[in-house]
Amino acid sequence: MQTVTTAAQLRACVAGWRRGGARIGLVPTMGNLHEGHYSLLAAAREKADRVVASIFVNPTQFGPREDFASYPRTLAEDSAGLKARGCDLLFAPGVEEVYPFGVDKSVRVEVPAIGEILEGELRPGHFSGVATVVTKLFNLVQPDVAVFGQKDYQQLLLIRRLVADLVLPIAIEGAPTVREASGLAMSSRNQYLTAQERERASVIQRTLLRMADGVHAGIGLMTIETEARKALEAEGLAVDYVVLRRAEDLGEPAPQQRSGLIALAAAKLGRARLIDNRLVDL
Ligand code: PAJ
Repeated sequence: MQTVTTAAQLRACVAGWRRGGARIGLVPTMGNLHEGHYSLLAAAREKADRVVASIFVNPTQFGPREDFASYPRTLAEDSAGLKARGCDLLFAPGVEEVYPFGVDKSVRVEVPAIGEILEGELRPGHFSGVATVVTKLFNLVQPDVAVFGQKDYQQLLLIRRLVADLVLPIAIEGAPTVREASGLAMSSRNQYLTAQERERASVIQRTLLRMADGVHAGIGLMTIETEARKALEAEGLAVDYVVLRRAEDLGEPAPQQRSGLIALAAAKLGRARLIDNRLVDL
């Protein structure tokens, strides 16, 4: 595996592969890699001849009171993990490389509607930061396919919309959420949890499952949401939202809607803010 930090090195390496006719896959990450990230690498491998992973803790997607400074940075371990799993190229740029005109003076990419609800409403500017950095990464690597996790379901929809609206010739693949044995979705932010909080956090996945069961049982959507909130609060979680939405666009479903739904939750526990979701398949 090669590791590069500049756009010029990255371009040179990828251009060589492309001349050889290779299909290029991209897995964007912020590092501190776990099995969830590595599953995306495996998915990219299946769709591409060469796989590029990026590690970049993107300042523009963090709010002023969020954990940009303390976000875990573990480049040496991440690099060894990627190498062991057959990644071809690691792109690990510095902030100046990605934002040459300065973070505050960057051109920004805005994705209306999907970028403004749920996570977008609670984290103003977050999805604009994500859309901006992902657009830059797409232009730098020019991949044929890019893989994103369903764990960040709203982000996945946002990227799909971005690619469709800007007519970018990139196939977007969604990969299933990888979980701990307890059901807790793997996340770099789980390490902010104490051992005891980690146990309690598994209530999120259990609650999402019960919401799906509630839909199948014909219980009213509002009732399901209210009960779900209570279940999370009973474990001491501070709930940002726990809702049933239309899976296609995260809009509010009609009260009688029973198909095409997704349950989503976001809650704070100790120092961590956790998100998870589950498609309600009939
Ligand atoms: P990060 O949180 O590092 O996640 C990188 C990718 O890994 C995302 O596509 C995310 O959905 C996926 N992922 C995280 N946990 C997962 C899990 N348990 N199972 C499966 N996939 C999982 O998401 C970002 O970084 C950033 O917003 C980024 C897209 C890199 C832009 O900066």
